[in-house]
Amino acid sequence: PKIVEYHWNLEEHEIAPDGFKRKMFLVNGQFPGPTIEVNHNDVVRVIVRNNLDEPTSLHWHGMFQRGTPWMDGVPGMTNCPIPAQSSYTYEFNTTGNWGTYYWHSHHKGQLADGLMGPLIIHNPEEDPHVDDYDEEFEVTVSDLYHKASASVVKKLHSIPALEAVPDNILINGRGSFDCDTSIPQFKFEPGKRYRLRLINAGAISNIRFSIDNHKLTIIEADGVPMKKYTVDRLTLHVAQRYSVIVEANQTPQNYYMRAELDTQCFHGEAETLEDYPPALAEVSYNDGEDTFDGSVAAKDTMPHCADMNGESLVNYYPVAAPPYDESIVVRVRFGKNGTRLRGFLNNQTYVHDSSRPTMMNWWSGQSNINSVNFLHVINKPKVVQVVIQGGVNGGEHPFHLHGHTFMIVGTGQGTFDPKKHEANFNYHNPTRRDVAVLPRKGWIAIRFIADNPGVWALHCHMDWHLEAGLSMQFLSLPDEIMNLKIPDSTVDLCKDIRYASARHT
Ligand code: C2O
Repeated sequence: PKIVEYHWNLEEHEIAPDGFKRKMFLVNGQFPGPTIEVNHNDVVRVIVRNNLDEPTSLHWHGMFQRGTPWMDGVPGMTNCPIPAQSSYTYEFNTTGNWGTYYWHSHHKGQLADGLMGPLIIHNPEEDPHVDDYDEEFEVTVSDLYHKASASVVKKLHSIPALEAVPDNILINGRGSFDCDTSIPQFKFEPGKRYRLRLINAGAISNIRFSIDNHKLTIIEADGVPMKKYTVDRLTLHVAQRYSVIVEANQTPQNYYMRAELDTQCFHGEAETLEDYPPALAEVSYNDGEDTFDGSVAAKDTMPHCADMNGESLVNYYPVAAPPYDESIVVRVRFGKNGTRLRGFLNNQTYVHDSSRPTMMNWWSGQSNINSVNFLHVINKPKVVQVVIQGGVNGGEHPFHLHGHTFMIVGTGQGTFDPKKHEANFNYHNPTRRDVAVLPRKGWIAIRFIADNPGVWALHCHMDWHLEAGLSMQFLSLPDEIMNLKIPDSTVDLCKDIRYASARHT
């Protein structure tokens, strides 16, 4: 296969995405970071020079990492982070993955400090919608804090609240706080059809996306092609991606593209946030003209904070849900752990130890897996159902499973009851994706085929909730992990624990 190589230099710089200056982590001077754009089956190689004053670890969100689970970039689970002022090369194949993905740091709160960017994999042979558009754009939406993630986290630890309201929303890394900042521009040619690859690469916020006077036809969710479904506006929870087709079929002038914080999801603070301004971009049919007369914002077509449901997201290639071999229930709750407010899954709060990743420990024969933080072992390939059960007080949580695309077989309000609910599951063609939203005071049931050796995180993708411990890990096919050839460079990242020597004696 073809190897597509990138050279990335990570540095800290002061920038002002929305007019407010703050220090951020940039890749090759860019925010959002560079786009990885390859064809299906290409191998991606990213040579990282970490010139930050702290360790980092990059994660390729949604990639299956089949055969290379140590490239998944989750400190404490799959690999050790790249130390400050040193280099490391990521390399993984894209087999089985095509569509709209992204990459982000999985180390502490670094993704909120700028370490994120698009990852696009083309597959013209298999993509059923390839003839439905003429051109494409990437649209990354994200929330922005005017403070470094470390101080957001510190504040959350000292006051009993986990909802840090962001200072702004950005489109492709720009927003306006200061009126001087220019907004991003997307040029439309009348009559053309555009595929917009939407990515919510933010830390915590649910973001509502629309383009004045234009409809959005969904064709993809999280790398899975969908049957066409047209909406006026759509909601992206953290880490979700959609491709939508937009036709340039309106009176040629300028229109606003809007990315809005769904303030209603900050339960308890929603009222004080009423006037939170949207991020704007310009969709322009004209060169140079500045009129937005007649640009009319879309009306709501979805309830606040809700995810797209099964009828709006129908897999283009139908897949029936196989019966499960094992079903586990994971209960979400927040509570005090000492003086800190933490997130719990089945009464365990995940605390990662960067220097001792589960997979490297296991592979090197140094593991006592019984002592590992919330680990679920899957010894042989099987179908696993996970029911995530929300509490009575909680909000919505976008849950992400690493290394797999799962099926959403059911979701509902209240308490999950297998006898009552499993009969009504969608078995014939459940929506497949890699981030699904646990509804407020409800539950969601996902199924996945656990046949990919590695250690895979299942966690809430709201960055502050992950930091607060809302995470668990699956150790899949441990015997096969023992047979993997983990490269020396990966082993060396953990050299403090001397895996190499342990492995070979
Ligand atoms: Cu987008 Cu655990 O990752």
